[in-house]
Amino acid sequence: MTSVETKPFLRVLAGEPVWPPPIWIMRQAGRYLPEYRELRARAGSFLDLCYDPGLATEVTLQPIRRFGFDAAILFSDILVVPHALGQDVRFVEGEGPRLDPVTGRAELDRLAPELPLGRLAPVLETVRRVKAALPPATALLGFCGAPWTVATYMIAGRGTPDQAPAVRAARSDPEFMSLLIARLIASSITYLAAQIEAGADAVQIFESHAGALDSDPVLFRALSLDPMRRIAEGVRARHPAARIIVFPRGARAGLAEVARARFANAIGLDQDLDLAATLPRLPSNLATQGNLDPMLLIEGGPALDRGIDQALKAVRGRPHVFNLGHGITPPTPPDNVARLVERVRAA
Ligand code: CP3
Repeated sequence: MTSVETKPFLRVLAGEPVWPPPIWIMRQAGRYLPEYRELRARAGSFLDLCYDPGLATEVTLQPIRRFGFDAAILFSDILVVPHALGQDVRFVEGEGPRLDPVTGRAELDRLAPELPLGRLAPVLETVRRVKAALPPATALLGFCGAPWTVATYMIAGRGTPDQAPAVRAARSDPEFMSLLIARLIASSITYLAAQIEAGADAVQIFESHAGALDSDPVLFRALSLDPMRRIAEGVRARHPAARIIVFPRGARAGLAEVARARFANAIGLDQDLDLAATLPRLPSNLATQGNLDPMLLIEGGPALDRGIDQALKAVRGRPHVFNLGHGITPPTPPDNVARLVERVRAA
């Protein structure tokens, strides 16, 4: 298949096998970069940084300048949506997000019934500024969290090892859960459509905690698959050509279902999946993204080279975006990222 796209990343999302595969990495703007840490120290809180279009634009562009990735991802966070809905959200240094938990109807009713998009105006301004500053071959990726993943933080008030508080709520108070998910579906459609209007070339839906639902197919469909599909349909009702990536991290039975449902242009694969075994079971024209182990990027050297070469061999001939299987972590030496990009480009 050939397409009119000139950006390699978008050609892959259109189903075209591009060689060498385009590359970006999840959390590419972040604490492993000295220039990020320097700016972050001046910005005040993490949310202040997300809501400052000048600084957020600069941070989004830092990894593009340093490594020349094929896509820039908007610098923001999935938790700006609950924050805009009125939930108290803060990020505690060295610990992660803290929210005032929403555990039932009463607390949900205190949040905004619809996404007050004006509160996210600075994020949309960042999209516009990044778009204007990017090289023509570099794509701009917007994103949101999938409703289930965002709900796990809204309910527990923080990250939890197995998302137990949200799984419990789904079983003990299904009416509350379905109202919360419905609010997040509608908010995500509004938010992603606005990102596309501001200039995002594609959007990614992060279902980071899909794994917590994978053993219960009924819950997985109701709380993960179906909400993501409805977001894709809602965004396409406003922007028929919208390009959408879903990343159901940790999903196994669920991964096959998401792939079969075909509502996304591409599916993200986490690092625990064996590419050589997984790819032949996916539709050959469905684009994939992933899945190098972020630990290899810390390790570097021959182990990293072997991991890269193995992934390249497995994806040859398929529409694939080279990426990690989850976000890059702070201890990663930036030189290893440069080595990764160089090796993929030399494929
Ligand atoms: O470079 C990029 O990928 C773009 C920016 C981005 C951030 N968060 C910035 C960030 C993106 C796409 C996200 C998504 C996100 N946020 C997810 C889904 C992807 C995933 O990692 O599973 C989730 C679950 C969150 C929620 C969140 N934000 C957590 C759990 C944490 C704490 C853990 C951590 O890494 O610190 C954050 C904070 C966060 N989001 C940071 C960054 C750069 C670090 C905060 C800092 O710099 O002080």
